[in-house]
Amino acid sequence: MKQTKKPLVVSRSGRFAAGPAADVARFTESISFDRRLWRQDIVGSIAHAAMLQKVGLITRPELGAILKGLRSIVHDIEDGKFRWREDLEDVHMNIEAELTRRTPAGAKLHTGRSRNDQVALDLRLWLREETRALEGEIVALQAAFVSLAKKEIETLIPGYTHLQRGQPVYLAHHLLAYVEMLERDQQRLAECRVRINVCPLGSGALAGSTLPLDREFVARLLGFVDRRGRAQVTQNSMDAVSDRDFAIEFCAVAALLATHISRTAEDLVLWASSEFNFIRIADAYTTGSSLMPQKRNPDVAELARGKSARVIGNLVALLTLLKGLPLTYNRDLQEDKQRLFDTVESVRTTVRIMAAMVKNITVNRAVCRAAAQDPLLLATDLAEYLVRKGVPFRQAHHAVGAAVALAEKLAKPLNQLTVAELQSIEKKFATDAAKIFDLDSAMARRRLPGSPGSREVKKQLARWGKKFRVRPV
Ligand code: ARG
Repeated sequence: MKQTKKPLVVSRSGRFAAGPAADVARFTESISFDRRLWRQDIVGSIAHAAMLQKVGLITRPELGAILKGLRSIVHDIEDGKFRWREDLEDVHMNIEAELTRRTPAGAKLHTGRSRNDQVALDLRLWLREETRALEGEIVALQAAFVSLAKKEIETLIPGYTHLQRGQPVYLAHHLLAYVEMLERDQQRLAECRVRINVCPLGSGALAGSTLPLDREFVARLLGFVDRRGRAQVTQNSMDAVSDRDFAIEFCAVAALLATHISRTAEDLVLWASSEFNFIRIADAYTTGSSLMPQKRNPDVAELARGKSARVIGNLVALLTLLKGLPLTYNRDLQEDKQRLFDTVESVRTTVRIMAAMVKNITVNRAVCRAAAQDPLLLATDLAEYLVRKGVPFRQAHHAVGAAVALAEKLAKPLNQLTVAELQSIEKKFATDAAKIFDLDSAMARRRLPGSPGSREVKKQLARWGKKFRVRPV
């Protein structure tokens, strides 16, 4: 069996006469994907080394040498000159081994530390940053919806249940529904960051260390503090090295975000179809067919819808990964990274492209207006008209149902029934019943908070517009 070259510095080198077999090295390595954590790994090492010096475990010159070595490694990685070695398994060992090659002080860096608490640290640092960036992307998408809503402030469309026309709503009201969902997604991200933002360093392999480490000092250096500036450190070493709740929680938040985007995308796909024709998505965000020359397909929206599948899959993969693991660290946990990375990448790129696409949507106002003019959309208003005249709602509902059937039978629109025809169904109908079908006054009648009434929608738009400083495009 072919043996790989014995690595220069590996933590286990004393116990083993030889390195692992080449196929084992290939099977167990994570450097091909966890090198993405190099910056977090080095930042963590800098803080750890500063702490070791503070508590007297390394000297000031040794700290200086470690910092200098790490700095030169940063430059090499940035310049693409760093040689990542598969036989050194992961990002932690690669960097530590190279540091030790550059300075003997490097051999002291791993004092009181294990890759188990180190990888938990790196992931937390990385995810903390990513959640902030993702929040920024979500805000941009919200702003794009608000800006389209402002531009279409007068546009009415039918609102749907069961994908059947229900009642008229402002397009802005429909768009602001997405903004509400995204707002909750943002809140969930911020709440999940509170639990990400706890420092596991000092937990060692599973049982801490006999050395006088200063956990709170490291935590503070790395920004693991609460709103009042108090250091946040994990409270149980066994939990700290085997806990991936924070990653799973993030993936759950991301799955919900992806689900929201998927539903939004589905609306856009429908609206862009010839059947609806409410919107036109700019050429740059559609694609043609290789066979049918007339096609303009909403592929971006479709892929945004499709991406949710892998994001949901990643969440399930992580839950499954953890569910049978005994305490504490098990190598299975290495499988967390690609799922987590893929989730972050998928949602970030999706949110970003959606924002760009929304900015490139034009609304076919005439088509929307014609659809919203359907008098059947105001059948509920007609029932409420009867309620205002003292008719019990159940009876009013029945009467309007009968009126709809009569109109259908007479092959005319609901608003064209004569007063006599209406009164043949319910005596409380009077000449003012016709006014119910005026769309503008119908929208003005909706005054409840959260309703699609003209004043309420303007109020909501102003609230969101102020928040995102959005002007109509
Ligand atoms: N590459 C490992 C991971 O991703 C780092 C921790 C390894 N720890 C260990 N005891 N083998 O989880």
